[in-house]
Amino acid sequence: MAAMYGVYHGPEGLKTIAQRVHGLAATFAAGLKKLGTITVSFDETTAIEDVDTLFKVFSLGKPVTFTAASLAPEVQNVIPSGLVRETPYMTHPIFNSFHTEHELLRYISKLQSKDLSLCHSMIPLGSCAMKLNATTEMMPVTWPAFADMHPFAPTEQAEGYQEMFKNLGDMLCTVTGFDSFSLQPNAGAAGEYAGLMVIPHGTNPASAAMCGMKIITVGTDAKGNINIEEVRKAAEANKDKLSALMVTYPSTHGVYEEGIDEICKIIHDNNGGQVYMDGANMNAQVGLTSPGWIGADVCHLNLHKTFCIPHGGGGPGVGPIGVKKHLAPYLPSHPVVGTGGLPAPEKAEPLGTISAAPWGSAIILPISYTYIAMMGSKGLTDASKIAILNANYMAKRLESHYPILFRGVNGIVAHEFIVDLRPLKTTAGIEPEDVAKRLIDYGFHGPTMSWPVPGTLMIEPTESESKAELDRFCDALISIREEIAEIEKGNANINNNVIKVFCSTSFE
Ligand SMILES: Cc1ncc(COP(=O)(O)O)c(C=O)c1O
Repeated sequence: MAAMYGVYHGPEGLKTIAQRVHGLAATFAAGLKKLGTITVSFDETTAIEDVDTLFKVFSLGKPVTFTAASLAPEVQNVIPSGLVRETPYMTHPIFNSFHTEHELLRYISKLQSKDLSLCHSMIPLGSCAMKLNATTEMMPVTWPAFADMHPFAPTEQAEGYQEMFKNLGDMLCTVTGFDSFSLQPNAGAAGEYAGLMVIPHGTNPASAAMCGMKIITVGTDAKGNINIEEVRKAAEANKDKLSALMVTYPSTHGVYEEGIDEICKIIHDNNGGQVYMDGANMNAQVGLTSPGWIGADVCHLNLHKTFCIPHGGGGPGVGPIGVKKHLAPYLPSHPVVGTGGLPAPEKAEPLGTISAAPWGSAIILPISYTYIAMMGSKGLTDASKIAILNANYMAKRLESHYPILFRGVNGIVAHEFIVDLRPLKTTAGIEPEDVAKRLIDYGFHGPTMSWPVPGTLMIEPTESESKAELDRFCDALISIREEIAEIEKGNANINNNVIKVFCSTSFE
């Protein structure tokens, strides 16, 4: 774990840093105007002596007749007076309380001790792929060559980054069967929006609604699979205005849909409708199949899931989108730094910007890059197989204690599965959040709750967990089931038991 240190800044300190950095940059610019022109960015670690040193460098050996200190009074605040913020900010006491390093350290450490992270236990969040974020993958993020690069730096000054973008884009194309990738979207949901914008003509209906599309929801059959006849009817009925199908594969109920290629064909056959595949569950596809091969036209990946970047409270995300050749010209662009798909497509009408920075959360891309490069094709395929094996092992161990809601052919699940808790509400007054909270008592993070099916838990172990950890988790869930049985038998009070405690607020 990284060493922790803290320095109090608070709202005033942050403002002072911003003013100081701006003052240095403006002073330097004023000096350079006298010497010639170039672009440089400063941060809070720059000192006024650095500016003098830079003047010497740019004077090309000629004597410098001024100093940074002598120029500073000439520097004007370039923020127009109408735009200067006058309202207070960061007013919550927490931003103003800890003024010494040890107070700040105690505060951060207190927060950290409340956390239940991958350092403590598996986090079996279905559809979230909370897998190992290996230290080797994380280390490059701290290297100044990655960490100190301005997002708008001219590309010729960031050739290493360019090489990584290109290689990572190529590797993602190989993994997914697409022709081009944009690394710009900052999350899966942003990728959904970008992907649908690329299509115009998610699994998340909100993304489709944001793009102005009319949404038709298609039902599922008794096994939880998409009802193909309903897809066919809806596609044919809306043939003239069919834009896209959004589909998650493997589905969020943890099953490889047998009819996925037929579904893609139905959409394509109806006036060239496009297939948007949600790649949130890519951890069950890598090396085994691919969205491009199945028939999708566009797909987002959550690099913070399948490709090892920490997520949730752990950091920013990356939701790159991959597309087939015919959509490559429409990938996100950027007004400051020329970009687009990878490899750079010939851009007819790119859709514009999806994130403020040209390559989104570029600093964390070395994590996914390192992961893919170190695993290689065999390692990646093995990871998918082990993720599927782990999910099936757990489903098998738990099936005699809890119903497993959906399974594919031969009773096999994909990389995650749903435990049905709905009957327990009637028999013992127990709901998913009660089981999830009880799991914390056993030292575990709860699984995904009530999604995609209300009243259930969705478990995704990933390939990263050992058999011992899988067993520890199954043992905890089995033990909790025995505790629930005590309520069912009447041995434990339905309103006051080890799982559920009702606190009375009346004082008599
Ligand atoms: C199936 C599915 N699609 C899309 C998303 C959105 O991804 P993100 O959280 O990166 O925005 C999620 C998030 O967990 C998901 O589970």
